[in-house]
Formats: sequence, C-alpha cells, structure tokens
Amino acid sequence: MPKPIIGWELESPATDHIFNDYLSVRNGRLHMENLDLAQLFLNEGADLKVDDLLSSPLEIVYLPIIRRQIEKMRHLFAEVMSELEYIGQFHYAYASKANAAEEVIRTTLEAGADHEMSSTVDVEIARLMVTRGLLTPDRMVICNGFKPAGSKYVENIIRFKSEHANIIPVAEDLSELTPLIESGLSFDVGLRQKSYGAHQDEVEMDQYNSRFGMDLSDIWRAADYIAAAPNLNLKLYHAMVGSQILDESKFVDWLMPPMDIYARLRQRNPTLNIDFGGGMPVPMTLDFDFDYPRFVRLLLKTMQEICSSYDVPVPDIMGEFGRYTTSEHGAHLFKVIAVKENNSDLPWYIIDGSIMSSFPDSWALGEHFIVLPLSNIDEPFQQVQLGGITCDSDDIYPPKNSPSPLYLPTKTDDLFIGFFSIGAYQEMLGGVRGSKHCVLPEANELIIDQDEGGSYTFEVISGQSESDVLRNLGYATTYR
Ligand SMILES: Cc1ncc(COP(=O)(O)O)c(C=O)c1O
Repeated sequence: MPKPIIGWELESPATDHIFNDYLSVRNGRLHMENLDLAQLFLNEGADLKVDDLLSSPLEIVYLPIIRRQIEKMRHLFAEVMSELEYIGQFHYAYASKANAAEEVIRTTLEAGADHEMSSTVDVEIARLMVTRGLLTPDRMVICNGFKPAGSKYVENIIRFKSEHANIIPVAEDLSELTPLIESGLSFDVGLRQKSYGAHQDEVEMDQYNSRFGMDLSDIWRAADYIAAAPNLNLKLYHAMVGSQILDESKFVDWLMPPMDIYARLRQRNPTLNIDFGGGMPVPMTLDFDFDYPRFVRLLLKTMQEICSSYDVPVPDIMGEFGRYTTSEHGAHLFKVIAVKENNSDLPWYIIDGSIMSSFPDSWALGEHFIVLPLSNIDEPFQQVQLGGITCDSDDIYPPKNSPSPLYLPTKTDDLFIGFFSIGAYQEMLGGVRGSKHCVLPEANELIIDQDEGGSYTFEVISGQSESDVLRNLGYATTYR
C-alpha cells in the first residue's frame, strides 16, 4: 500500500515550512493562504473583523480556492488547446454532488462554470439560481443521475426546460428517453456510456460490472431513437471512468475506448460533443504529484488522433469537476482537549469533535486527509493518534491499518489542529443538520471570502444547539 503523507513527519519543529500551495507556516502558526488560522480562536489583538472570538470545533469554507481551481483548469485547457491548435472549446461544469451548499454553487456560477446535477432537489437549486440571475441562459445544465419515467426528477427537468432552455438530460438507460420524447419539448440530450472502471478496450469496458450508463448496443439503439424523435437532438456523449484517478496515462487510456465510440457516433450526429465526467484528482494528502498539463495534453492529442482516423472534427470537451472544485476549500478545525497515555502504542490526542461523522470516508473507505497543527508548530513534535469525542472505536485518525504516521506538537496547551482538503463529499455524506453519531451538535461554520482589495471577509453560520439536536430527535422542546 502506498504511504500517503498526511502531515509533518519529523520530531523537529516545522518552522517556516511550506506544505503546499495554500498551507504554510509563518511565525509559528499555520496559514491558509494569508489567513492565520489559530488567530480565529486566539485573537490576540488582531483585527480580523469576525464579530466574536470563534470557538472550536469550526468548519472553514474558504471560497477563493474554489475560484482559483476553476480558473486554473480553464486556463490550462485554453493554453494546451492553443498549443495543439485544437479547434474546439472546453467547458468546465461543477458537479454539484460534491458539495451542494449555497455558497459553493453561487461561487462556481459566479466564476463562470456550467452546472451538473443528479436529483430533483438539484433542479430546485438550479431554479433558485436562475431566479437570482446567477445561472444565466448561456450556462449548460447537465442532468445526470437516474430519472426513469414517472420520477419526480424527470418531471421537474421537463418543467424546468421552460425556465432554462440550455438543459441537457443525460440518459443513463434507454427507458429514460421516453418521457423526454413524450414531453414534445425540444431537448438537447446526452447518452451515458457504461465506462466506469479499469478497462483496456471496448470489450472489457462493455463487460465491466457497473450500474452507470448503457452498454454499447444500447448506446447505438438510443442514438437511433433520438434520431427518429422529432424533438430530441443528440448533443452529449458522456463517459466517466472513475474518481480521483492519480495516473495521467491510465486516465487517458481508460478514456480511449469512449473517445473511439464518440468518433463513430459523431459520423452520424454532427452536433455531438464529449463529456468525460468527473474523476479529476486533487491533492487530499501531501504526496500528490498528478501532472495536470500532461493529462490535458495527452487527452486532447488522443482526441485529435482518434477524430482524424475517423475523419470527423474534434469536439468541444466538457469535464464535470466535483472533488477537484471543492476538496481544498474546506477545512475543519478542532482543539486538542486532552492527552491520554493509557499504555497504548502512542499517546492519544483527544479532540473536541468527531472524526468519523465529520469525515465519513476516513472510516468507511480508509481515506486520508491532511492534518496539521495550527499553533505550537515551532515546538518539538511526537507521533500520536487522534481520538474523536464519540465513544466509537472507529472515531480515530489515522484510519485503522493506515501506514501513515501522524506527528503533532508535544506542547498541547492551546493546541488547535485542522483537517484539510475535506470540502468534497464529506459534509454531504455526513449530512447537513440532522442528528449525528453520539448526538454531537454540528459545528459552527465560518465562510471566508476576499473583497476586491484582497481583505478577508467573514460570515459565521451557527451550528446546532443542544435543543436543536433534541428537537430533531423528537423530544419535547421544553428543554432549556
Ligand atoms: C456523473 C458524475 N459526474 C461527476 C462526478 C464528480 O466526480 P469527481 O468528484 O471525481 O469530480 C460524479 C461523481 O460521482 C458523477 O457520478
């Protein structure tokens, strides 16, 4: 098993260390870009313009990183397209399933992203964004997810068509075309190939055990139905091969069979473009070395070669970026409230919140995230294990059987720590509001942005009170 690097791995202090492009140590404190994170709790006369001194645990929502991610990827595609003389456009869609919070969707739309969704409530979110003038008529709305005839989702998509014409339902299954045909409305539609997983060629891809999308024979049948339907136009060929794919060549190799099918479909469908779905990796630990320019160059070159061999023009290319857009904008800060030496292998540092309910992928999938101290960084470190405050044996970090050591400062007075790169999926999987494991209330949230002059702006969203939790579980609200 490769050993993810999840933090500082030495006993010496991490003085003035740069961990990645947004986390660095200055004056003994961890900074997220230019923000001293410990200062949110320790204040010390600094004028952060946050209304009150904040308490831990605290969720950080750092919006400038979302904008930066979108800009970086668009810039990269523009550069490589120009270098390769690729005659087609790149479309960046935000995959809203990674994090559907209002401030996240708003920020992606303000940054110019197209929008990808997967359920009927997503349609309601898009409707609100149209009303607010953020989801403008030029933006594509890609509707993935299951939407069989009679489902609320497909009915809502059909209703939404009159409010936002630029909507593209992507059929996962042949039967999903029927309600669209019967609606009588003119739809650009997409078809989703069953392409998820590792495969060498079209035959392996077709045989792969995946519930997403259609096999090749159904793709051809669906294309015929669409060609025969007076109100449908085949616009998008969707093929997603996986998630957090860390090898550029493998990513493109797995996309090759879909690219080949795209080119064959394109011979009969002149408006067709390609959408490689999600999968774009993002650093969740400190050992990440995916080469984005190499991936984009390989992808576009391969597309050019395949299209040329079938004598069709290259398509516009869309990606649906979930984890890539949102992972790094989220952090969750805790205080170390006790150190427990009970003759275990390593000292336990107990924090004032739950690891497992805040980051479900850490115990469900053994996923690693970056963990760093916010304060006391210029003190010696020791190897430790973290314990959450629930009574669950899985509420620990590093995950069980992890090969990665975790080092934190030996000085634990006013020791705050942060989990980083947790902004994609974790909050949605753990649930927003609702009741959590061991009835722990949800933490406060701090939304951080920058004004035009680069100064930080803050908005605090209250978490749950004890009575919120009790009410939620059906207890009478007389509790004070
Ligand atoms: C259809 C579709 N598009 C996009 C995504 C986003 O993937 P990622 O978070 O890897 O970018 C997913 C994730 O499951 C998906 O199912």
